[in-house]
Amino acid sequence: MAENATTSAQQALAGVRLLWGVCGSFSAVAVPHVNAWLRGTVGVQEIRTVMTTQAHALMGPRMIEAVTGHMPVTAWEDHKGGGAAHVALGAWADVLVVLPATANFLAKAAHGIADDVLTATLLAAECPVVIAPVMNAAMWSKPAVRRNVDQLREDGYQIVEPKDGISLTEGRREPGSLGDFQPAISSALVQAAARHTHPQGQ
Ligand SMILES: Cc1cc2nc3c(=O)[nH]c(=O)nc-3n(C[C@H](O)[C@H](O)[C@H](O)COP(=O)(O)O)c2cc1C
Repeated sequence: MAENATTSAQQALAGVRLLWGVCGSFSAVAVPHVNAWLRGTVGVQEIRTVMTTQAHALMGPRMIEAVTGHMPVTAWEDHKGGGAAHVALGAWADVLVVLPATANFLAKAAHGIADDVLTATLLAAECPVVIAPVMNAAMWSKPAVRRNVDQLREDGYQIVEPKDGISLTEGRREPGSLGDFQPAISSALVQAAARHTHPQGQ
């Protein structure tokens, strides 16, 4: 019975299109693991990614291409499908997840700045959005960052609070690691599945 329920939940989510924004944090190394969870456990099949220029510089696009099956979009000209990248990607997405989200991304998003593909797509998209900030403890504690997070919540974005973890750069335990993203992403996906159905191949 429980197995049937899982199967039908996975079937409902199989057609949901997840657009994934990856910012310039070392925690971008979590992408393959999160991708495996999305595909293997949750059952999402349609995943496209947008990497910021800094994410591209830190980790390159190949690992993301390998695990999602598609090259990430970073530069405007990476988008090949016709039209403007942010409009096309925003229209395509049923859910937008930004993980990891940098302090820089939070600031731009909170102020409506759209100076790259990811931030422009955030404004163009009309789907549920989940934002998972990751940064060191000092950055996370700054009033400017807190203000931006509060603003983003007020604007209707779901924020995944970072949790304590071992800093990848400092090696000590501190707040700012990737938080418990699964419940927020799962609920955004369920919301999206209820809102959208895509005819075969569209
Ligand atoms: C190795 C490395 C790791 C970084 N990790 C983070 C991080 O976890 N969180 C963060 O907010 N900024 C981090 N930064 C700083 C951002 O990369 C920087 O603010 C950049 O402008 C963010 O650009 P983006 O938001 O367009 O990706 C890191 C920088 C470097 C060089």
